[in-house]
Amino acid sequence: LNYNVARERRYILEVLFNGLRRLEYRGYDSAGIAIDADLRPPVTNEKKSDYGSGEEEMLPPYDSPPPLVFRQEGKIESLVRSVYFEVDAMDLNLEQSFPVHAGIAHTRWATHGVPSPRNSHPQSSDAWNEFLVLKETLVRHGFTFESETDTEVIPKLAKFVFDKAREEGEQTVTFSQVVTEVMRQLEGAFALIFKSAHYPNELIACTRGSTLILGVKELIDDKVRGKLFHDVKDLTKDEKPKELFFSSDLCAIVEHTKKYLAIEDNEVVHIKDGCVSILKFDYGKEKPASVQRALSVLEMEVEQIKKGNYDHFMQKEIHEQPHSLTTTMRGRLKDNSVVLGGLKEHLKTIRHSRRIIFIGCGTSYNAALAARPLFEELSGIPVTMELASDLQDRQGPIYREDTAVFVSQSGETADTLLALEYALANGALCVGVTNTVGSTLARKTHCGIHINAGCEIGVASTKAYTSQIVAMAMMALAIGADRISTQARRQAIVDDLSNLPYKISEVLKLDGEMRDLAESLIDTQSLLVFGRGYNYATALEGALKVKEVALMHSEGMLAGEMKHGPLALVDETLPIIVIATRDGCFSKQQSVIQQLHARKGRLIVMCSEGDASSVRPVESCKVIEVPQVADCLQPVINIIPLQLLAYHLTVQRGYDVDQPRNLAKSVTTQ
Ligand code: G6P
Repeated sequence: LNYNVARERRYILEVLFNGLRRLEYRGYDSAGIAIDADLRPPVTNEKKSDYGSGEEEMLPPYDSPPPLVFRQEGKIESLVRSVYFEVDAMDLNLEQSFPVHAGIAHTRWATHGVPSPRNSHPQSSDAWNEFLVLKETLVRHGFTFESETDTEVIPKLAKFVFDKAREEGEQTVTFSQVVTEVMRQLEGAFALIFKSAHYPNELIACTRGSTLILGVKELIDDKVRGKLFHDVKDLTKDEKPKELFFSSDLCAIVEHTKKYLAIEDNEVVHIKDGCVSILKFDYGKEKPASVQRALSVLEMEVEQIKKGNYDHFMQKEIHEQPHSLTTTMRGRLKDNSVVLGGLKEHLKTIRHSRRIIFIGCGTSYNAALAARPLFEELSGIPVTMELASDLQDRQGPIYREDTAVFVSQSGETADTLLALEYALANGALCVGVTNTVGSTLARKTHCGIHINAGCEIGVASTKAYTSQIVAMAMMALAIGADRISTQARRQAIVDDLSNLPYKISEVLKLDGEMRDLAESLIDTQSLLVFGRGYNYATALEGALKVKEVALMHSEGMLAGEMKHGPLALVDETLPIIVIATRDGCFSKQQSVIQQLHARKGRLIVMCSEGDASSVRPVESCKVIEVPQVADCLQPVINIIPLQLLAYHLTVQRGYDVDQPRNLAKSVTTQ
């Protein structure tokens, strides 16, 4: 939204498209935008008299033409193409400038309803254009629904509220009153932006349970204009030209500004003629209260969201792991011990827990699984694992004496957040491990650790996985810090943590070898990965990477279970990766290799440097040698060749690395 500065439609479109491009990793099956079609001059104090006086002056501003909405199936670029095509066909003036402009853009990952223009967002209350109870009520009141999305109910409800207020003679109903009433009637989590032909030059955003960021960009140098504002109350002054951005993700605004505000649950942010006001909606109270909030400064560089010299984000993020792990540990390893500011006050409670429960989905779950043995060892507390959706399905017991650790890169995964609500309701201490400052998970847990891996864009998680393991290893060290019996062990782990970034640079040198291995596997139908102990998680995560991006069937298996079923699959054609690096399970893995070899298995063995001859059953067997570190940190090293393998397999098989079919990075719906 621009204020006081004439900006052309072309510029506005490009800002919106770029924002969508930054968010595309979140979902990419369809997208849409809404822009102002035509705006008469904004109503200023002097001009109000043109529209009458007295009572009339209190009327909501005049209606404007409905916004132009463009929606398209497929990736963002297909929306971009179709918008410019339609703009041409409509002979729409791209050079037209606006004193104030409010536009909305949205990228969708289908839940209710297939990807199609009709189901894409923005959704509108106009005729052209579940929930069920609300939808039925609205249908009874004559609204017709065109899409299969649950979102469509929201603009229709807003229109219903607006019409009803007008019918009841409330001519002065404001945009925020309409939206507050809509919020009152909605259940569940949402982040919404409203724009209405009844309220030109206004935009409203609100959220409940989902992240929504307001970014503020001053358009005039502060030396010219005086000091920069620090409080939102300064934004209510009508004097500084600015652009304001709402986004569900900081990545989409970082190229415009670093000043932002994380909008809190039940806040309604109202922008009118370029001024911002915030109302806090409270169920118990008749009227929402006005609130003041300070702006924060974003610690993220634009480079983080660019590919740099790499072909793909996944590739960049794999190769950036020496750096991301350094930032995960920065300031936290002190005098041979671990200092975690976000947990300090809660360590005692955690040490007295009856149980520690790790909860997450996908890669985050696997990272927790990798950290589990060290947690058990250093804390002496039973540690159990829960996939967030499964915990919900079973409504598994959680008690006040439990510590529930929620692991999520995005901090926005719906399944994990629902499990969090459940654990909070059951009185457990809830700890978050996340990569996203200001995320819902970070806000709703009692305490936690930011893994500080930097923005991760590739849909397949890579650097966040290794940073999660390291963050949780540090957490285990902090919890176990009061035990004298494990002092030497802890010291050895801290030493190896410091060396980890260097060891990662070493293992990354396997890139070419993994590219060649990928070439030899390119046509296979399926791949198995066997691991155990610390590296059971590596097997699951390695297989998940191959499945997610290379679109090849792949299963990670507990090697101890091999003889209880999977052995039946073994033949000369099925490639099997066995992880046999040095740890307490090494000899058991040597025996697994022998058993597979005896059944003519097509083996690929991962072992510690120098161990090739001890693990290779025959000279022709492919061996991947990796640097050795403390057993509990070995999963951080071992996953790297498998990430590289998945990456090269994907490129060689010709699939989309950063946006694999049907997947989204943050699954914010159940
Ligand atoms: C999605 C992604 C996975 C990710 C999982 C958990 O399924 O495709 O790559 O591991 O969500 O995401 P989170 O942000 O909670 O770690």
